[in-house]
Amino acid sequence: MKVIFKIWRQSGPKDKGGIKSYEVDGLTEDMSFLEALDHLNEQLVLKGEGVIAFEYDCREGICGQCGVFINGRAHGPHDHMTTCQLHMRSFEDGDEIVVEPWRAKAFPVIKDLIVDRSSFDRIFEEGAFVSAKTGTAPEANSILIPKEVADKAMDAAACIGCGACVATCKNSSAALFTSAKVNHFNILPQGKAEQHKRVKGMTDRMQKEGFGSCTFTGACEVECPAGISIRNIAEMNARFFKAFALD
Ligand code: FES
Repeated sequence: MKVIFKIWRQSGPKDKGGIKSYEVDGLTEDMSFLEALDHLNEQLVLKGEGVIAFEYDCREGICGQCGVFINGRAHGPHDHMTTCQLHMRSFEDGDEIVVEPWRAKAFPVIKDLIVDRSSFDRIFEEGAFVSAKTGTAPEANSILIPKEVADKAMDAAACIGCGACVATCKNSSAALFTSAKVNHFNILPQGKAEQHKRVKGMTDRMQKEGFGSCTFTGACEVECPAGISIRNIAEMNARFFKAFALD
């Protein structure tokens, strides 16, 4: 299988960058997309050229590190799939495949396809945790949680923080990511004590990091590999107003 990769190359944050074409032969349809990029990098090494920088960790759809735009779609042509789970069988022999990094002010490009997503970490640090004294694990049934509440919290916890929601949104809003993290904790009884501080702190940090406002276009929900619902955003907004009304 042969394809033409058109890949964004940028040597550093200050470089203007641009698309470069690479004809890559010797691929198979069973290769993952990242393996195809590995294959291209091996050829670049043999030619003495600089390899393409791209990010990954688990290659199992868990860590959220591998996100790129592929032919204009976050994580490629399929819904609810990360880049590392994409295989070359999704493309035809001879296809041109354009690969670009996430585009958002709050995600500046570090090199080639790698962007700085530490703005997500700083939102996380504002409250995506529960402050509690550690000690022996409590008895499992000491806090009873209805199944529908546990399910809702787990659905929100499925967010892998890849940034596809931000990169896809025309406003570069981080509302889907932030709402998933807020709701994950605020829904559960263990998160109630800090619920108002959490929603205020995380939404405030989201704005300070330069993310745009949510206008409910729904693009984030479509491209989210974890299938996080935009209902989380509506719920976060309600929690936000309640926090100001009650504090
Ligand atoms: S490399 Fe971990 S989600 Fe893709």
